[in-house]
Amino acid sequence: MKPSSSLVLIPLGVSLASTVAYNGSCHDHKPMQLRLAYAGSTGMHVSWNTFSRIEQPRVHFGECIDHLDQQASSNISVTYRTSTTYNNHVKLGGLKPNTKYYYQPECSNSTTPFTFVTSRAAGDHAPFTAAVVVDMGTMGSLGLSTSAGTGGAVPLKPGENNTIESLESMLHGFDFLWHPGDIAHADYWLKESIQGYLPNFSVADGVKTYERILNAFYDEMTPITSTKPYMVGPGDHEANCDNGGTSDLVHNITYTDSICMPGQTNFTGYRNHFRMPSVESNGLGNFWYSFDHGMTHFIQLDTETDLGHGLIGPDEVGGSEHEDSGPFGSKMNQQTTWLARDLALVDRSKTPWIVVSGHRPWYISAKNKSSSVCLDCQDVFEPLFLNHSVDLVLSGHVHAYERNAPLYNYQIDANELENPTYPWYITNGAAGHYDGLDSLVKPLKNYSRFALDTVYGWSRLTFHNVTHLTHEFVASGNGSVLDTATLRKDHSQLRGWYSEH
Ligand SMILES: *[C@@H]1O[C@H](CO)[C@@H](O)[C@H](O)[C@H]1NC(C)=O
Ligand SMILES: *[C@@H]1O[C@H](CO)[C@@H](O)[C@H](O)[C@H]1NC(C)=O
Ligand SMILES: *[C@@H]1O[C@H](CO)[C@@H](O)[C@H](O)[C@H]1NC(C)=O
Ligand SMILES: *[C@@H]1O[C@H](CO)[C@@H](O)[C@H](O)[C@H]1NC(C)=O
Ligand SMILES: *[C@@H]1O[C@H](CO)[C@@H](O)[C@H](O)[C@H]1NC(C)=O
Ligand SMILES: *[C@@H]1O[C@H](CO)[C@@H](O)[C@H](O)[C@H]1NC(C)=O
Ligand SMILES: *[C@@H]1O[C@H](CO)[C@@H](O)[C@H](O)[C@H]1NC(C)=O
Ligand SMILES: *[C@@H]1O[C@H](CO)[C@@H](O)[C@H](O)[C@H]1NC(C)=O
Ligand SMILES: *[C@@H]1O[C@H](CO)[C@@H](O)[C@H](O)[C@H]1NC(C)=O
Ligand SMILES: *[C@@H]1O[C@H](CO)[C@@H](O)[C@H](O)[C@H]1NC(C)=O
Ligand SMILES: *[C@@H]1O[C@H](CO)[C@@H](O)[C@H](O)[C@H]1NC(C)=O
Ligand SMILES: *[C@@H]1O[C@H](CO)[C@@H](O)[C@H](O)[C@H]1NC(C)=O
Ligand SMILES: [Fe+2]
Ligand SMILES: [Fe+2]
Repeated sequence: MKPSSSLVLIPLGVSLASTVAYNGSCHDHKPMQLRLAYAGSTGMHVSWNTFSRIEQPRVHFGECIDHLDQQASSNISVTYRTSTTYNNHVKLGGLKPNTKYYYQPECSNSTTPFTFVTSRAAGDHAPFTAAVVVDMGTMGSLGLSTSAGTGGAVPLKPGENNTIESLESMLHGFDFLWHPGDIAHADYWLKESIQGYLPNFSVADGVKTYERILNAFYDEMTPITSTKPYMVGPGDHEANCDNGGTSDLVHNITYTDSICMPGQTNFTGYRNHFRMPSVESNGLGNFWYSFDHGMTHFIQLDTETDLGHGLIGPDEVGGSEHEDSGPFGSKMNQQTTWLARDLALVDRSKTPWIVVSGHRPWYISAKNKSSSVCLDCQDVFEPLFLNHSVDLVLSGHVHAYERNAPLYNYQIDANELENPTYPWYITNGAAGHYDGLDSLVKPLKNYSRFALDTVYGWSRLTFHNVTHLTHEFVASGNGSVLDTATLRKDHSQLRGWYSEH
C-alpha cells in the first residue's frame, strides 16, 4: 500500500469539511459494491467492499449534498477464504425517518455523494411501493444472457431487458428491494463450465470462477443497492459451490460439495456480505429478522436451516439438497419461537399489514418433492401465519410465477381476495439466472389463480392504504405488467386495532 492520497476525492462545489479528511491511504480502499439495508426507521446500514482491509470503515453523511457534516464508523471489515475482497459495514444512527440523506464511504471515488431515504416510521400510513425479486442471478456473460451453453435453458431474447436492468429503469418506482434468497448464483460456475458456456473448465480454477461471478453480481447491483435498501434472505444457492450437486453427463462425473472450499459453504459469503436488521428485531444475523416501513411489518424467514422440531444439523434443512449448513440458532426451535413473539408484538394500528417472505414455497403447482415444496416449512410456519392473521406470504425457489388464493392447509378461503381470513400466497422465482425458468406442473393446483412459467419478471407491491394492497408481476423484458391483483383487508377486525381507527 503506498500512501498516495490523503484525502477522499471531493466533488466540485462540496466543501472540504475537515470531517472527510482521511488519515491514511485510499489506495486499495476504493469502495465498490455498495449495499444499503434499513436499520430501523432512524438507521441505515451502509456496506461496501474493498480490495484490502480498512482499519476503521467510515461513512460521511448529511441532509445537504454539499455538507456531509456527520460521520459514523465501525471496526467491521471482514473477509473469508476464497474471497478477493473485504466487506465493510457501518451503521448510521440518529437519522430522521422518511428523510433523504447524502453519503460517501470514506475514500469514495464517486464524484457525487450517493443518496438514500430512511424508512417510514411505523404508523405512517402514506402509500408506498416495494420491489421483490427471488432467484436473481448474475446477468451478462457470466450468467443470464442472450446465449446459453449446451443444454442451457431460456436465454434472453435480443432486446429484452434482464431483471437488474428492468429494476434500474424503474428505480424511482419503489422504496426498497427485497430479495428473499438465491442471490448471484455463483454456484452455477460448475454448470456453466460443464455446459461450455464458460471456457476452460477446471475444478482447480473453480474458486476463481465462483468469485468472479459473485463480484459481477454485486457490481451489477450497485446502481440499485447504493441508493435503495436491499433486504435479503437466505436461499439454497447461498449454501455451497456445487449447486446442490451437479452432474457432467458427458464425462459421467457427479460433483458434490466435497469440491467446495470452506469459504463457499455454510452461507459464508452471505453472512459476510450483508448486515440485516436482526439486532433491531431480535432476529438472527441475515437469517431471520423483521422491519417496519410505514403501514407494513415485513418479516424475513429462513427456510434453509433452523426449522426446529428437534432436527438439528443437516437434516434440519428444509429441502433435499443436503446443504450441510447451519444451524445458526443455538436453541431448539429458536426461529419459530422468535417468529411467534415477533408476530405477537405487532401493533396492527400502526402496521396493519404483515408480509412474510421465505425462500421456499409450499403452495405451488410443482411436483410434491422436497426439493421444490417445503413441507417442513409449512409444518412450522403456517399455523403461526394463520393465528396472527398474516396478510401475504411471498416465496420463490421454483423458477416461475404463481399467484394463489388465500389458503390454509390446502383449503381455499371462500372470500378469495375480499377480506379473507387466510394468508395470501404468491411465488415469484422468475427473476432470472443462468439456469432459466422451471415449468409448472399442469393441471395447476386448484388454488392457483394466475400462473406464468415462460417470462422473467419481478413483483411490485403497492400499499395504497390500510385496506388495499396490490401485487403486480412486471415482465423484465419490456416493463409491462402481466398480472395485477388487489387484496382488500378489513384490518379493523383484528386484535390490537385501536378505537381511534
Ligand atoms: C493520523 O494518524 C497518526 C498516526 O497513526 C495519528 O498520530 C494522528 O493522530 C492521526 N490523525 C487523525 C486526524 O486521526
Ligand atoms: C472506484 O473504484 C472501484 C474499485 O477500484 C472501481 O471498481 C470503480 O470502477 C471506481 N469508480 C470510479 C467512478 O472510478
Ligand atoms: C470492534 O468494536 C467492538 C465494540 O465497538 C468491540 O467489542 C470489538 O472487540 C471490536 N473488534 C475488533 C476486532 O477490534
Ligand atoms: C431497459 O433498461 C434500460 C436501463 O436499465 C432502460 O433505460 C430502458 O428504458 C429499459 N427498456 C425497457 C423496454 O424497459
Ligand atoms: C481458454 O483456452 C484457450 C485455448 O487454450 C485460450 O486461447 C483462451 O484464451 C482461454 N480462455 C480463457 C478465458 O482463459
Ligand atoms: C458412471 O460412473 C459410475 C460410478 O462412478 C459407474 O458405476 C457407471 O458404470 C458409469 N457409467 C458409464 C456409462 O460409464
Ligand atoms: C455453520 O456455521 C455455524 C455458525 O458459525 C456453525 O454453528 C455451524 O456448525 C456450521 N455448520 C456446518 C454444517 O458447518
Ligand atoms: C406431499 O408428500 C408428503 C410426503 O411424501 C406428504 O406428507 C404430503 O401429504 C403430500 N402432499 C400433498 C399435497 O400431496
Ligand atoms: C393457534 O391458535 C390456536 C387457538 O388459539 C392454538 O390452539 C394453537 O396452539 C395456536 N398455534 C400456534 C402455532 O400458535
Ligand atoms: C383443493 O384441493 C385440496 C386437496 O389438495 C382439497 O382438500 C380441497 O377441498 C380442494 N378445494 C376445492 C375448492 O376444490
Ligand atoms: C384505499 O385504496 C384503494 C385503492 O387505491 C381505494 O380504492 C380505496 O378507496 C382507498 N380507501 C380509502 C379509505 O382511502
Ligand atoms: C412484453 O413482454 C411480454 C412477455 O414477453 C409479452 O407477452 C408482451 O406482449 C410484451 N408487451 C409489449 C407491449 O411488447
Ligand atoms: Fe432458485
Ligand atoms: Fe432456491
